[in-house]
Amino acid sequence: MSHIVVLGSTNMDLVAFVEKAPQRGETVTGREFRTIPGGKGANQAVAAARAGATVSMIGAVGNDSFGTRLRSTLERAGVDTGRLRTTEGDSGTAHIVVDDDGGGNAIVVIPAANGTVDHLTPGDEELIASADALLLQLEIPLAAVLAGALAARAHGVRTILTPAPAQPLPVDLLNATDLLLPNEHEVATLTGRTDPRSAALALLEEVPEVVVTLGAAGCLYAARGAEPLTVPAPEVTAVDTTGAGDTFAGALAVALAEGRPMPDALAWAAAASALSVQRPGASESMPHRPEIDAQYTS
Ligand code: RIB
Repeated sequence: MSHIVVLGSTNMDLVAFVEKAPQRGETVTGREFRTIPGGKGANQAVAAARAGATVSMIGAVGNDSFGTRLRSTLERAGVDTGRLRTTEGDSGTAHIVVDDDGGGNAIVVIPAANGTVDHLTPGDEELIASADALLLQLEIPLAAVLAGALAARAHGVRTILTPAPAQPLPVDLLNATDLLLPNEHEVATLTGRTDPRSAALALLEEVPEVVVTLGAAGCLYAARGAEPLTVPAPEVTAVDTTGAGDTFAGALAVALAEGRPMPDALAWAAAASALSVQRPGASESMPHRPEIDAQYTS
């Protein structure tokens, strides 16, 4: 079984489901409110575990009731939480509005405990060194993300970075990344280019492989010395796209760690992602391996 380490955030998602998201200054009545475990790091950990890997999570939760639930959600998914620290104070939260227009969302994240993950311990580095792949995102301080990428590089571990929330990145971090996994918005922030193909090609100067996720349109893969490849997504009706990119990242990491060729790994990850958007919630919507296999072959 492949071993994936995730260094990143855990958030309790406070989700309002509404027909139409409010404009600035407007109040609308929603349909339902739910608290759902999320956070880009924890989502990717759950996605990879359900996709069939052994997964370890490095990060932090607060010593509040959200923290207890976030930890137990990961443990129930089979994720090793031995290096998930509990800190004094609040857990991270994400304040999410999901609308009926294709399950689109708007999110405000309050980092809280995630902000304390600003360095790696020797034990964290040892864990990263033992992995087949390291999954990174940007909901913990950049110093720790960079330290994780450098530790992975030093031990020949493949690093997959989801550059979200979108922000400009230091060249050191891009150069320590093996595969960059932005969406259309993030790739535009990184390059200033709105055309995903041109943006992905520009990023190849810093990173050897780039996958731009394009929502219902699938994804675009670009690698140095090869013609870019577009992989379609299965056609489905989305009710909540929260965590779709994290599902894609977790499944892709598992497929690549198992040695599957890139086009096949991308199609399998797209199948996982398509399943997740048909159900509400981030971690709760993530598919198990038999479902992904069934969607992939259908
Ligand atoms: O990528 C989706 C995640 O982003 C949500 O679960 C939320 O916690 C935010 O971090």
